[in-house]
Amino acid sequence: MRESLHRSRAALLSTLLFVAACHPAASPAPAHPPAPALEPRDATRVAEAAALAAFPGGWRFPVGVKPTESEHAMVVSNSKLASDAGIEILKAGGNAVDAAVATGFALAVTYPSAGNIGGGGFMNIRMADGRSMTLDYREMAPGASSRDMYVDASGKLTNKSTVGYLASGVPGSVAGMNEALKKYGSMTLAQVMAPAIRYAEKGFMVDSVFSRGIEGARRAITPFEGKAVFFPGGEAVKTGSLLVQPDLARTLKLIAANGPKAFYEGAIADSLVAEEQRGGGIITKDDLRRYKPEWRTPIKSTYRGYTLLAMPPSSSGGITMTEAMNILENFAPLPPAGSVGYAHLLAESYRRAFMDRNSKLGDPAFVKNPLNELTSKAYAKTLAAQIDLHHASKTPAFDTRAEGTQTTHYSVVDNFGNAVATTTTLNGGFGSGVWVRGGGFFMNNEMDDFAAQPGTPNMFGLVQGEANAIRPGKRMLSAMDPTIVLDPQGKLLMVTGAAGGPTIITATMEVILNVIEHHMTLADAMRAPRLHHQALPDALRFEPNGMSAAVVDSLKAMGHTVTSQNGLANVNSILRVPGGWHGVYEPRSVGGAVGY
Ligand code: GLY
Repeated sequence: MRESLHRSRAALLSTLLFVAACHPAASPAPAHPPAPALEPRDATRVAEAAALAAFPGGWRFPVGVKPTESEHAMVVSNSKLASDAGIEILKAGGNAVDAAVATGFALAVTYPSAGNIGGGGFMNIRMADGRSMTLDYREMAPGASSRDMYVDASGKLTNKSTVGYLASGVPGSVAGMNEALKKYGSMTLAQVMAPAIRYAEKGFMVDSVFSRGIEGARRAITPFEGKAVFFPGGEAVKTGSLLVQPDLARTLKLIAANGPKAFYEGAIADSLVAEEQRGGGIITKDDLRRYKPEWRTPIKSTYRGYTLLAMPPSSSGGITMTEAMNILENFAPLPPAGSVGYAHLLAESYRRAFMDRNSKLGDPAFVKNPLNELTSKAYAKTLAAQIDLHHASKTPAFDTRAEGTQTTHYSVVDNFGNAVATTTTLNGGFGSGVWVRGGGFFMNNEMDDFAAQPGTPNMFGLVQGEANAIRPGKRMLSAMDPTIVLDPQGKLLMVTGAAGGPTIITATMEVILNVIEHHMTLADAMRAPRLHHQALPDALRFEPNGMSAAVVDSLKAMGHTVTSQNGLANVNSILRVPGGWHGVYEPRSVGGAVGY
């Protein structure tokens, strides 16, 4: 009783302090002057912030942990072996694009829950000379797909968009990685694929996390043929055993020797289509032959003097992050990380940006995305003015399903100043579970990223609309947001991005804000507690012990529904520092930051 009285007093005090200290004006919000430019991130400021840094009591990570440091180059991914592959290529004279492609193929071997050749992804490239471009190799809906293919005769949504043969879009990863290499790499496919082929052919040592991950995916993997590889004798591959994948090694060698044609038209296409036909899938040789990656102009925005280069549609990542950052800019300088005020402003900005995302965005080949409007500072200002500083808003019902959490992001910088941020996925862990016999790889369940039944939540609770309804040849809307940040002088500062469905957008943005707005070291920025709001469900999610009880109570008093969720997103980041680079892989997961 006494404790709860104490907590609610603390909550009230915390709310009042926030309102008085950060935002003296009562709602409706005043017209905000242009946001002052941020003070440059300098070593003194970072050292001061690091000395004062504190996470809430009980939070799982300490402050002040050292990152991986390097002088020349860095690769950060969810697999140490895949990062090693990238560094091997860089040391052999390759550039960041060569290394990114090497890392991507290696992830397909060493991190098969999300690394893939049976899925798709997005790559954000910035060359040292300032050229900046993004590559969309998102999966596409097969020609025989249809708007209501996942709805049964009684109008109920089935699980066929998530499990089994009908769940897959036409894979884009092989075409995409080849395209990036051809345009901006300096090596051959055979050179950059050599480490992945070695890992598949000679095997790699299974560690306890990998073994537990396979056991945890028993229900996804064992109905299909991958069980022979990952559950030999019916048991998950054992810690300390060598995992050799001969079918995958053969597939990778065919791609290395013959290019993407091997995958889209040759022997691998034959195996893929034969697998589809055995299980009632609809991907045909024509679908494979027609698949093309698309070069797109990045979403370029500014936040208080910094430049963000982010992913355009068919991902919602760049637009949604830009919209939310633009809203927040109206409240600059932001309240401190960990305060009620900061949590409230994040929640209200996310709410508004996700309402637009979920109702208005889709594949640009099918939908006119209101890109200019949604990323404009003026529009953000009108949204910011709607934010009541004392009370949570409610998300109205809107004309509008969630994305897979088993995506993976990797970041690369090279010695020449080139940078690559890549996010790739099968959607759910091990995708649809379908494993291509003879091919040796898993197929995605990316069709669930469409609004399989507009207005009905998908596997992660996102409610989306007609703009993202299924059409043959259409790309399903993604949240992936590989992002490159430039400092106010236009110099490369950060390479980052995340896995985690819609939490990709919020976690990527929070790590960036932790660095540029809150002056955290990259290690602290990655370890700081995260928040998430996606409009619907109308709840502010936080990580257990990631906010103090007083902050939680204050947010509730302001009208927020507050729920906790373990491990929001999976981010892998690189930051330029004086004398080189800091690299940090997701502390909530596994990975490797490797530099030289
Ligand atoms: N499948 C996760 C995403 O594309 O956002």
